[in-house]
Amino acid sequence: MKSKTSRTTAERPLAATQQWKALQRLAATLKRRHLRELFADDAQRGERCALDAVGLYFDYAKQRVDERAVALLLALAQARDLRGRIDAMFRGDRINTTEDRSVLHVALRMPKGKRLVVDGRDVLAGVHEVLERMAVFCERVRSGAWKGHTGERIRHVVNIGIGGSDLGPVMAYEALRHYSDRALDFRFVSNVDGTDFAEATRDLDPARTLFVVCSKTFTTQETLANAHAARRWCLAALGDERAIAKHFVAVSTNRGEVERFGIDPANMFGFWDWVGGRYSMDSAIGLSTMLAIGPQNFRDMLAGFHAMDEHFRKTPFERNLPVLHGLIGLWNANFLGVESLAVLPYEQYLKRFPAYLQQLTMESNGKRVTRAGKPVGVETCPIVWGEPGTNGQHSFYQLIHQGTRKIACDFIGFCETANPVGDQHDLLIANLFAQGEALAFGKTAAEVRAEGVPAALVPHKTFPGNHPSSTILTRKLDPRTLGALVALYEHSTFVQGAIWGIDSFDQWGVELGKVLAKRIGAELAATKTPKLAHDSSTNALIRRYRRQRGPSA
Ligand code: F6P
Repeated sequence: MKSKTSRTTAERPLAATQQWKALQRLAATLKRRHLRELFADDAQRGERCALDAVGLYFDYAKQRVDERAVALLLALAQARDLRGRIDAMFRGDRINTTEDRSVLHVALRMPKGKRLVVDGRDVLAGVHEVLERMAVFCERVRSGAWKGHTGERIRHVVNIGIGGSDLGPVMAYEALRHYSDRALDFRFVSNVDGTDFAEATRDLDPARTLFVVCSKTFTTQETLANAHAARRWCLAALGDERAIAKHFVAVSTNRGEVERFGIDPANMFGFWDWVGGRYSMDSAIGLSTMLAIGPQNFRDMLAGFHAMDEHFRKTPFERNLPVLHGLIGLWNANFLGVESLAVLPYEQYLKRFPAYLQQLTMESNGKRVTRAGKPVGVETCPIVWGEPGTNGQHSFYQLIHQGTRKIACDFIGFCETANPVGDQHDLLIANLFAQGEALAFGKTAAEVRAEGVPAALVPHKTFPGNHPSSTILTRKLDPRTLGALVALYEHSTFVQGAIWGIDSFDQWGVELGKVLAKRIGAELAATKTPKLAHDSSTNALIRRYRRQRGPSA
């Protein structure tokens, strides 16, 4: 039960709460302290500021927090009724208030045999029915029982989708490529730029290609344009409308639009409006993932998600991995003035993970008003970006070490590699640990001088250090670990959104551009010079493009 006090505090402007003010006061003191001092003060810091949950070891010792900061952040979470928000999500309350929807991606990974009744219906029954249909279909394709129109076996799978209907599938495919069936070749087409489709299909045999058209709404301009291009490409080669049934499947919540496009609903895998696009990689949107890694590995991935869900739901906040991860991110963003978070996986298979997290975090928490429509009054989501190590070290790390911006880092590493090549894995991980160490402790001018560096070069070779980072270390990248890792970031995003008091599950910010693109699209297509009523810059760009554009197909 929520106390009256907690309810009142949860509704007060965030920056006016006593917990926020206390954190600001503490930050003013902690900002003056260097990580060198925090480590010197506590010989056990490395062990104390770490958490082991669901196979993930989370080390936040190199974050600029102390016990008081963590305690105050936990108090803030309590005051903002984080517990109530978590319970509301898992119960199926309509916490996506601006769209009046439940937010139940956690239901997608609940095991069979449980029940979750929302609006009088057991949503888990539907979840498992779709999972079983997906498994049957994937086994048929993988075994060769599913044949193309000319009787050939499927060898190429092209996922067409954008945003959550692309980033989750492509990230998971790349992450779990080691577990994938190498007899199948996977491509991902998202961009409305025809080059994406053309390059993905140029060397494919239509008779052996399966298109998985993924779109929650089935109205997304980019996806429909690419799906129509795929249809034309398929028909041009196979010359028969009946081929569509063998070469196209759809994943959507919109049966009517799928039918209108010409895909047989028997070849459609559904999901529900309570699954947000960026939270959908473990729904039927993961069909290409299941085709690649097989149903059992997909179930293992779901088990990893579920294990993190249970940890998040049940563990006291002070030992709760997503809660601590989210609170530390919020501390950096709101109290230390850190504007961005670099996600740095030291694992080549996670090369699309930063891109996946960009949508997850920034589409969720890139908001400026609260659920009640009032200004949040504090900074919200940091800019999230990243690249796998060690590549990033030879590109942008210079700025993190010696630039003027404040950047926090999440390092992600694995103790085992799927591809041992000489001692390269040790080299990789040595680099990961070295970067965390260098960022935290830096190198003082005195240390540089003591090395005999000429005075003029001392400022150039000095590293200020004190750059906050966390390290997530786990045994190996397998389906279960991937599920746990993604769920960690999903819930960490939730924690931050709950404290900022925003709706993390809508995305109205993408609408304006879509509307304007429709209007401009008509102006570009018009045969007669259209009368333009945009600003003078946009008008000039439209005219110039109309004069200079190349021929269309
Ligand atoms: O970018 C806006 C958005 O609605 C995302 O939230 C979503 O993942 C993406 O477009 C694709 O939407 P759909 O799956 O409906 O095609």
